[in-house]
Amino acid sequence: MNKYKRTIVTTALPYANGPVHIGHLAGVYVPADVYVRYLRSKGEDVLLIGGSDEHGVPITLKAKNEGVTPQDIVDRYHNIIKKSFEEFGISFDIYSRTTTETHYRTASDFFKTLYEKGEFIEKESEQYYDEEAKQFLADRYITGTCPHCHKEGAYGDQCESCGTSLNATDLINPKSMVSGSVPVMKTTKHWYLPLDKYEAFLKKWILEDHKEWKANVYGQCKSWIDQGLQPRAVSRDLDWGVPVPVKGAEGKVLYVWFDAPIGYISATKELTPEWEKYWKDPESRLLHFIGKDNIVFHCIVFPSMLKAEGSYNLPENVPANEFLNLEGDKISTSRNWAVWLHEYLIDFKDKQDILRYVLTATAPETKDNDFTWKEFQARNNNELVAVLGNFVNRVVVLTQKYYSGVVPSKSILEDFDTRVLNEIVDIVKRVEVSLEHFKFRDALKEAMNLARLGNKYLADTEPWKIIKSDEERVKTIMNISLQITANLAIVFNPFLPFTSLKIASMMNIDNSKWINVGEIDMLAPGHVIGTPELLFEKIEDEQIQVQLDRLASTKNFNAMSSKVAVPLKDDVTFDEFSKMDIRIGTILEAEKVAKTKKLLKLLVDTGIDKRTVVSGIAEFFEPEDIIGKQVSMIVNLAPRNIKGIESRGMILMAEDADGSLTFVSPLKKVINGSEVR
Ligand code: MF3
Ligand code: ZN
Repeated sequence: MNKYKRTIVTTALPYANGPVHIGHLAGVYVPADVYVRYLRSKGEDVLLIGGSDEHGVPITLKAKNEGVTPQDIVDRYHNIIKKSFEEFGISFDIYSRTTTETHYRTASDFFKTLYEKGEFIEKESEQYYDEEAKQFLADRYITGTCPHCHKEGAYGDQCESCGTSLNATDLINPKSMVSGSVPVMKTTKHWYLPLDKYEAFLKKWILEDHKEWKANVYGQCKSWIDQGLQPRAVSRDLDWGVPVPVKGAEGKVLYVWFDAPIGYISATKELTPEWEKYWKDPESRLLHFIGKDNIVFHCIVFPSMLKAEGSYNLPENVPANEFLNLEGDKISTSRNWAVWLHEYLIDFKDKQDILRYVLTATAPETKDNDFTWKEFQARNNNELVAVLGNFVNRVVVLTQKYYSGVVPSKSILEDFDTRVLNEIVDIVKRVEVSLEHFKFRDALKEAMNLARLGNKYLADTEPWKIIKSDEERVKTIMNISLQITANLAIVFNPFLPFTSLKIASMMNIDNSKWINVGEIDMLAPGHVIGTPELLFEKIEDEQIQVQLDRLASTKNFNAMSSKVAVPLKDDVTFDEFSKMDIRIGTILEAEKVAKTKKLLKLLVDTGIDKRTVVSGIAEFFEPEDIIGKQVSMIVNLAPRNIKGIESRGMILMAEDADGSLTFVSPLKKVINGSEVR
């Protein structure tokens, strides 16, 4: 039990530059939701805070690549992410974002307060600048040759070949990844939070006063502190973010890791006028749920910011998780190695709870863990279907059959029954203790043990064999089985909210209040229960194979794309290039060339004339599908005779890594004969 009056639970704000996947869910949002649902069911005052992290360089680059604004990007993904969380039952009190007005004001004021208190160091430094893109470059947006292993393609912050961490200035032949140009050195001014100044405080606060933190969290903090802390820049030269609210800081914004955690505060402000009570009252408790890559920011940087500000509580605990892998490989957005939440729900409609179950059962609580589809299937079939679903179903069906749904009384209790009743109390207690210690896997295992207890009780007593011979005994057995079922509705509420609701409706009870010890006898004799409803169904091998095939094809695709790119051809002069007459034309007719596999005969309107072209694209397109398409075509290529047909020109095609071809078409319709240059 905790000694606080209220709790505020924050969840890492996911970057709004992609959808969310099972790694996010397993590491942060499911455990946070389980915890908060548990506290709520105990009647505690608790808020679950979330939102999208909408600043940072990657978002600006993605926008640039797509030719849209950063706001377009974050709008798109914020909505996708928010919907996924809703669908998976993550019960946020608010899911906000860091582009709201409240957030801009809050983050800006926070900076100003620290600035006015003199908590920052102002420093000029030389940094790489991209003159073409007119922007300073973060280290990871510069590539070049590694000074250690001399491999090309090292990043400004790290060489992925030899693993050395670098400074961008170490790179040989640096190149901007934004424009491809050679960056130059330029002086710039930034504000730094002197973390070194907080070293003594952090040492005591974490290493002495919070020895109870999870070993993975405590260990990482210790290693950071032991290595010695350096001042950290909290501003950036960028035009996307919260402007630095200081004169002479034009064109500078707050570093994304400065404004994002303040987003927890802004979101609370948006939620309730009582926000300060949650953040500042000493009787309030702050908990951060995050993944391991966020530990330093939540245990060292943000607490130092809060400490510098002076009026806020510091986190009481930061139950960070390690990473979840997928089928043995690191989850990666760029390699599309992930199970995306919105896609999961297409293949497994209404089966949120299965994923919540499997992700909790295999959560990377103490070390990295692996998600496999086989395990997903096995846990569904052998645990959810065979244990939980089976027990609940039998109890409801038997109660309907024997007593038309009316709970019988337990008149005669044998020692055996009393032991089972005591066991219910013990199990519920163990679920509680595990939850209080953020041990969600153990808690879930215990919850499942309650269903196991029920199944074993039925198997041991076999009421169906004695329903004729010993009616009184069967009443007792069914009463106890029903009590177990009602308890299941409640202990599973934090983990499997959708299923818990179904069990509760079958039991005709409210599932939202945690069972207090001594209250496990929940259903009074005479209480009328509902009708059976299917909780889980078996997942077949074919369904799993579909998922495995999809991952296999992703792997293939990645393997091919990582093959060495076609080497560059020799330079041509501009004049040589200008000799080629490339135009946009429309395909008017298309037919297969007889006795060939690859060739299509096309009639193309070039804007100047209508002419015949033979093109080797028959493996990739059906003739009827390409009629009316606008394509690029070289129109002054000397005529060639192909299979007895005079071909006048050539259609330009883009070849993908797997050898498949696609047209190079204008993004909007243009007049036929338009020049490509
Ligand atoms: N967007 C960050 C990430 O995905 C997490 C930000 S957490 C916050 O790693 F505290 F800064 F909000
Ligand atoms: Zn290297």
